[in-house]
Amino acid sequence: MNSLWKRYAFLAACCFALHLAGPARSADDDMPDVGGKSETKLYQSLREIINHGADLYNAGDRNGAYRLFEGALLALKTQLATRPDIVKLIDTGIADANRERTAGHRAFALRRTLVDVRTKLKGEAVAVEGPEKIEKQPKTEPEKIETQPKTEPKKVAGKTLWDRLGGEKAVTKVVDEFVEKAGEDAAVNVTRNGKIKLDDEAVAKLKKGLVTFISSATGGPLKYTGKSMKEVHKGMGITDKEFDAAGALLKGVLEENRVNPADIDELMKIVGTTRKDIVEAKGAPEPEEKKKVEEKKKPTETGDVAGEVKFDGKPVDKADVIFVPVTKLDDMSLKATTGDDGGFDLNQVPVGDYKVVIKGGGVPADFGDAKKTTLKYTVKAGNNPASFEIPK
Ligand code: HEM
Repeated sequence: MNSLWKRYAFLAACCFALHLAGPARSADDDMPDVGGKSETKLYQSLREIINHGADLYNAGDRNGAYRLFEGALLALKTQLATRPDIVKLIDTGIADANRERTAGHRAFALRRTLVDVRTKLKGEAVAVEGPEKIEKQPKTEPEKIETQPKTEPKKVAGKTLWDRLGGEKAVTKVVDEFVEKAGEDAAVNVTRNGKIKLDDEAVAKLKKGLVTFISSATGGPLKYTGKSMKEVHKGMGITDKEFDAAGALLKGVLEENRVNPADIDELMKIVGTTRKDIVEAKGAPEPEEKKKVEEKKKPTETGDVAGEVKFDGKPVDKADVIFVPVTKLDDMSLKATTGDDGGFDLNQVPVGDYKVVIKGGGVPADFGDAKKTTLKYTVKAGNNPASFEIPK
């Protein structure tokens, strides 16, 4: 492996030497003259190295590409000793690449460093060289390295927040744990009191949405293509308190997964920017919401129900009688228990139509299910005598 490395490093160094040894080169060209022809030549030879590395990479020789790029960068360092900015870029690029798991990733990281160096040289070189030509890019690979962020996200030591969070695998783990915990936490109330049905498919979609959303926001390769945060959460009535509860859960999961505290803070700041689009229960309600709120403010007319339950002609003892409103789904159900004479009382019941559920006391199970019961009752203002006769 060592001799292979030497071969590629030698190849890269030769490349530079050949390019620098053109007829225009004079004896005092040994150090690049900033803004002069030497940097133009370096700029040109870098493209060839990048393209040659891309050819190796695409032919399956990822280690070869990596070694070629590394050799080129090391050779460049000696050529550009008078450019500490570029030397630093190279050192950081090589150090970052060494932390990557595979030769393919390392090659890709170093290619990026070569492109960055080239961009730095471009200022001096492009005026001489003319318009930039299109470079070869490594083809799509299973490791998805083609999906490196195209726009420059904020980087620390050459790494995006996405990379520092640990990339797709680590973020997926965090999201899985977060969603599971949030689903069980009444303070977050993901299902909005059961109004939103999240079956396995919906949970998987939510998780995927969160992973891609985080990726998009932190410079990762996966792009969130769903609706805006405002649209997705519209009508859920999420409060600041619930948002904070969700944020605290996410932070806890990130900590449990030993994410660096500075990176947690950075992600939490990004999450915080979504608050204005997600929280809607505070501040001016939307016109539609406003109507509902006003409706709720009106004093509700109520009636008192005095009833009895009989099954097969006999009074039903110790059964729960539940009035489930059929119109205003937001309202609570009301419950009473029958005595040994089958009687029950429900006071101050809002007027309206109800399904009547009777549970226990030997009554057939269907009557104990709000979806199956055939019993109904309309409560009017004042007194309401009610009698429920359940045949055998
Ligand atoms: C209390 C706070 C929150 C609640 C109760 C909540 C609830 C929900 C629910 C129920 C859905 C599924 C909608 C549906 O499938 O119909 C959803 C989707 C989504 N939420 Fe939240 N959310 C909260 C906070 C957040 C935060 C802080 C973020 C991001 C920073 C976020 C990002 C998303 C995304 C990206 C989706 C769409 C997933 C997809 O592509 O389908 N949510 N949210």
